[in-house]
Amino acid sequence: MSRSKESDELIFFVNGKKVIERNADPEVNLLFYLRKIIQLTGTKYGCGGGDCGACTVMISRYNPISKKISHFSAAACLVPICSLHGAAVTTVEGIGSTKTRIHPVQERIAKGHGTQCGFCTPGMVMSIYTLLRNHPEPSTEQIMETLGGNLCRCTGYRPIVESARSFSPNSACCPMNEKWKCCLDEGKNEPERKNSVCTKLYEKEEFQPLDPTQELIFPPELMRMAEDSPNTVLTFRGERTTWIAPGTLNDLLELKMEYPSAPLVIGNTCLGLDMKFKDVSYPIIISPARILELFVVTNTNEGLTLGAGLSLTQVKNILSDVVSRLPKERTQTYRALLKHLRTLAGQQIRNVASLGGHIISRLPTSDLNPIFGVGNCKLNVASTEGTQQIPLNDHFLAGVPEAILKPEQVLISVFVPLSRKWEFVSAFRQAPRQQNAFAIVNAGMRVAFKEDTNTITDLSILYGGIGATVVSAKSCQQLIGRCWDEEMLDDAGRMIREEVSLLTAAPGGMVEYRKTLAISFLFKFYLDVLKQLKRRNPHRCPDISQKLLQVLEDFPLTMPHGTQSFKDVDSQQPLQDPVGRPIMHQSGIKHATGEAVFCDDMSVLAGELFLAVVTSSKPHARIISLDASEALASPGVVDVITAQDVPGDNGREEESLYAQDEVICVGQIVCAVAADSYARAKQATKKVKIVYEDMEPMIVTVQDALQHESFIGPEKKLEQGNVQLAFQSADQILEGNRQPAMIL
Ligand code: FES
Ligand code: FES
Repeated sequence: MSRSKESDELIFFVNGKKVIERNADPEVNLLFYLRKIIQLTGTKYGCGGGDCGACTVMISRYNPISKKISHFSAAACLVPICSLHGAAVTTVEGIGSTKTRIHPVQERIAKGHGTQCGFCTPGMVMSIYTLLRNHPEPSTEQIMETLGGNLCRCTGYRPIVESARSFSPNSACCPMNEKWKCCLDEGKNEPERKNSVCTKLYEKEEFQPLDPTQELIFPPELMRMAEDSPNTVLTFRGERTTWIAPGTLNDLLELKMEYPSAPLVIGNTCLGLDMKFKDVSYPIIISPARILELFVVTNTNEGLTLGAGLSLTQVKNILSDVVSRLPKERTQTYRALLKHLRTLAGQQIRNVASLGGHIISRLPTSDLNPIFGVGNCKLNVASTEGTQQIPLNDHFLAGVPEAILKPEQVLISVFVPLSRKWEFVSAFRQAPRQQNAFAIVNAGMRVAFKEDTNTITDLSILYGGIGATVVSAKSCQQLIGRCWDEEMLDDAGRMIREEVSLLTAAPGGMVEYRKTLAISFLFKFYLDVLKQLKRRNPHRCPDISQKLLQVLEDFPLTMPHGTQSFKDVDSQQPLQDPVGRPIMHQSGIKHATGEAVFCDDMSVLAGELFLAVVTSSKPHARIISLDASEALASPGVVDVITAQDVPGDNGREEESLYAQDEVICVGQIVCAVAADSYARAKQATKKVKIVYEDMEPMIVTVQDALQHESFIGPEKKLEQGNVQLAFQSADQILEGNRQPAMIL
């Protein structure tokens, strides 16, 4: 069968302006394109890896089947420009500026004191803006969920969230006022007001109203394009990678047959990180984002079949809808998935990361795979040879060769069965933060009982974050036939401790903590199931104390609380007198419009060079030789700079600019490559050859540092009062050493 016609023309819109690129480079991401190619520097480069939200933009797409336009936020640093064919991108510059008109979101975040250094502000603005395009009167929960992927290092989240809440119905300017009413409006007369303390930080009445009719419209040309040329195979050839985006399933399967080792990319949230930070490159990348079959949802009496191309946000919305309509006993797996889908990564990532990508990447910390694994889910795969169903079980998740997809196969959809009446599914995760952080340990657990009894007929437990893959607590199968009671719990705990073991030197450290989490999740599962069994059959199960039941409560996603109060100014005080009044940050509006210029936003000067540094891979070593000849011969490289090139003082040993003769930590700068672009400088750093000879002592842990008395400063004691006396009269004394939080 011959493939559909090819095109190398990439067409998308940025802030209402059409962009046409021929043979766009698949390795160029949208953030680089915005900042360095078309000089829209309002979108900021923070982490470069989808973690901070500084680069948030809104992407809009038209679906020719549903005839609907969708708007979603995305992290521009992870969006390959090749994936944007047919999309409209809106950046912070596109919604308002001081030269034209500032947008209400920009105005409110500035006047609501939501900016300090202003670096995160454009990303915050675009997340809130996208939320308002979909929900003009958002709830607090929606705001909190939306901003979960945006980090601010200096303002604090309360004023940012408050600014967004000014669009919600019933919001007010005094967050601590119980009635959500400003203290000034509570009927105080003038003398009382003179001495009153106020928390009102802005005049809401001064804000422009939100007027959705003033927003940029989706370009009609992109709608026509989506309707007229759905089958074209888009092919973009870059320096190292070719991007192929077929329009039909047949073309996709043929391409996968032709290039079996080519990865499939939709959201680029996994592969993109490897390409960016580990310099992994692929000669061919196949993008199945236009294959309609990958977005089909089928709902039957048996369960849901979800297209593998659906984003995690779409999956969440579909599951929420089903859960709201079906009885709880039928939707145990869906509820467990929803619990994690609310906190997994940030909104910008969930909006683009695909269900299929999440499953196929089989990350050991995947939050969803342990739940799919215990939930008896199945993968529907296809190749030019036909279709096949593969169980999404522990063998698949462990990467057993016979249990995974063949290279030429493509994941089309995932079947997630409804739960049965005497079946219970739970999900657990513990992460450094509630949102936007990888889990330290997570788990999916399922148990089934003989009808109307508490006798176990099936039990399955999968843990993430424990090993190199998701691991199964297989020994728990021995508990089938036992009653769900404390004796069973004791045996289950013992089996899990023996089976799910972690070596002391396991990557990621925190071994004792992770082991404890694994057991603590089991305990929570036991209580959760017991609670549900008791509800169905009060006489067969033991009572559970209220104290124990508390461990089942999840931490709610709450509003950050706090207040700023100040003495209200005299009503006679002239308006131009700022003393005592909350004043907006002078650069607040420019932060919010992206017009404030940070160092990295300055235009490149003619002949400007870019530096990329080569750092030590050794904790303590002698530099035997440094050979930069290959790097110097690389395209665009102008020089390699070492300690010998520093005129004057290279700094003291521990603070030297470039390491000389010896390195004293991993990451110490040894030399730098100067080239005509940062990408070329970075690539050339890999060609600098350094030979090291290890030296003693090597200090990599806190224990090593203690042993060698290597301290940053003199020992510090924090004491107040008579410590000795206090210890003598204390009822209890707890002693111990604090373990290092992480062993790198
Ligand atoms: Fe941090 Fe993109 S720069 S998410
Ligand atoms: Fe948010 Fe500075 S990082 S204002």
